[in-house]
Amino acid sequence: MPETPSPLDPTLVALMRNEYATTGIAPGDLAADWYTQLGRWLADATAAGLPEPNAMVLATADAAGRPASRTVLLKGYDAAGLVFFTNYRSAKGTQLTANPYASVTFPWYGLHRQAHAAGRVAPVPADESDAYFASRPRGAQLGAWSSPQSTVITGRDVLDDSFAAYAERWPEGTPVPRPPHWGGFRLVPETVEFWQGRENRVHDRLRYRRDGGSWVLERLAP
Ligand SMILES: Cc1cc2nc3c(=O)[nH]c(=O)nc-3n(C[C@H](O)[C@H](O)[C@H](O)COP(=O)(O)O)c2cc1C
Repeated sequence: MPETPSPLDPTLVALMRNEYATTGIAPGDLAADWYTQLGRWLADATAAGLPEPNAMVLATADAAGRPASRTVLLKGYDAAGLVFFTNYRSAKGTQLTANPYASVTFPWYGLHRQAHAAGRVAPVPADESDAYFASRPRGAQLGAWSSPQSTVITGRDVLDDSFAAYAERWPEGTPVPRPPHWGGFRLVPETVEFWQGRENRVHDRLRYRRDGGSWVLERLAP
């Protein structure tokens, strides 16, 4: 058994502080469009060996405006938006159906960087979800069927039993169909911000903002 670590002394949290002495960003350094720029920073995060470089914190709100956040994986991006996959009946799926706006944050702390995007969200077409689901390993496909995501369950055995039942229903070599309640969402950004940490907390923030049919790039105070 690994040793149980002592909890961190709460007073130490206020003392945690890093200086960000990294090179800044200027509008001339950024790509003409947000998705090329996002692609460059994803490449930097990957090359730097950051864990889960495509992980992003997805914030949603319910119909009453109460927020919730969790991590999801970016699975596609282009001029049309940012795509992630999930259970449409999950808490986030229900929230996005009631209130189809969200924001995502990529927390690339190892590079003293973050990027955010915010905008309207819509389910991707069924054929796009089918194609991605078909590309997943069989275990993940069965996992999507076996987890009633975000619901209360009585124990781990509920998941193990459900997984075993679906594995029997679609034995090895049989294609696993996509659950109708599982698929992609596309966030169509209205803003995409790139943040680079600088010395003395005077950071660089550059934001692409949709302005009618075009995009403006503007600097925000940190
Ligand atoms: C690194 C990481 C990646 C994740 N990727 C996904 C994902 O792509 N899709 C997903 O539904 N949940 C993903 N999760 C789990 C979610 O964070 C969350 O627990 C789950 O989707 C239920 O969220 P909800 O109850 O707010 O709907 C991921 C978690 C982590 C830590």
